[in-house]
Amino acid sequence: MLMQAPVRVAARIHGFTYAIRNVVAEARKVEAAGTTVRYLNIGDPIPFGFHTPPHLIEAVERAMRDGHNGYTPSVGVTPAREAVAAEYEHRGMPVGVDRVILTAGTSEGIELALGALADAGDEVLVPTPTYPLYTAVLAKLGAKAVFYRTDHEKHWQPDIDDIAAKITPLTRAIVIIDPNNPTGAIYPDATRRALINLAERSGVPILADEVYGDLAFEGPSPLLGSLAPDAPILSFSSLSKAYVAPGWRAGWLTVGRSPMLDDVLAAIKKLADGRLCSTGPMQYAIHAALTGDRSHQQTFVRELALRSRLTVDRLNQIPGISCVAPRAAFYAMPKVELPAGKTDEDYVLALLRATGILCVYGSGFGLPTEQGFFRVVFLAQPDVLSTIYDDIATFTAGYLV
Ligand SMILES: Cc1ncc(COP(=O)(O)O)c(C=O)c1O
Repeated sequence: MLMQAPVRVAARIHGFTYAIRNVVAEARKVEAAGTTVRYLNIGDPIPFGFHTPPHLIEAVERAMRDGHNGYTPSVGVTPAREAVAAEYEHRGMPVGVDRVILTAGTSEGIELALGALADAGDEVLVPTPTYPLYTAVLAKLGAKAVFYRTDHEKHWQPDIDDIAAKITPLTRAIVIIDPNNPTGAIYPDATRRALINLAERSGVPILADEVYGDLAFEGPSPLLGSLAPDAPILSFSSLSKAYVAPGWRAGWLTVGRSPMLDDVLAAIKKLADGRLCSTGPMQYAIHAALTGDRSHQQTFVRELALRSRLTVDRLNQIPGISCVAPRAAFYAMPKVELPAGKTDEDYVLALLRATGILCVYGSGFGLPTEQGFFRVVFLAQPDVLSTIYDDIATFTAGYLV
């Protein structure tokens, strides 16, 4: 007799969800039924006509031609690490090359840091709404995401008292996403200082996700660590967003210079050894990006600010929908006043089936499902977005009767 039963998967997989991609399965069904899907779910500028700067492509091409196709040191090649260290020093968070590690995007930096910090049963403070990778990685580690509030009525600012109240002896890190995905919020300096103060008083390090720092509409956001270079802060970023190269998986993490973080740095390096290195030739683009021409960012940010204004204006005109204005990146998090008994997922799936417009429901980012939030990626051309908002208006009018 041959064994035919399905092979069992690990129980922790049930806790690993990533709504941004999970909704695509639904979209495929809608496509198969003949409706064109307009994908507003993934924050990737490339399919919407934005381009990777040519000097980055040349740097990668040159690296490949010059034979840089082998494994690199697990922390990454020196010129790229030096460029990151120089950038951080210039922006007020001096860390030194030894505290820079090149990673497969911000994502791998997050995974390495959480892996180095949290054991099974430990707690990590994560915002709601959150970028879902944090909860997914914590589920994989068997650690617990403890959600703290960010308040849409206060422009999605974090609730400092809520964070303070949730720090326990099991807390291993506080995740701060600033500028924020999915809300587009930027935190004022007073809030940032209060967060740093909490970290310093409690000894709990901050994981500062700063991948959208250069995509703030009013000019680049300061690094959190620039407000307190000796505070226990790890910072993460990549070429994915501000350098329009998400598929390259080229990013970095920096570990603040506080000696409190020396063991964490050593642990991250140990974990990094196990995965050999991030993509080698793409590491060469990091030096080119951080030392070369950044004029594409001005154009990109101008385009984003324009789309953001359009999005906020149009969504706020729809009866039953309200939207806080984003101040960075390419996401908005509107709220629809749901009929009793309906969830955010019901609304998003009904919108998809009726119009082919694919958004992600707020509960995919950790928000209560009855609150009716959903995330829109506004990278499409303004005229395309305008048609999409017309269709959302028509659909919502019918849905809310
Ligand atoms: C807040 C946040 N962090 C990290 C990432 C992952 O970025 P990367 O491509 O650098 O891994 C994203 C991607 O959307 C994000 O929005």
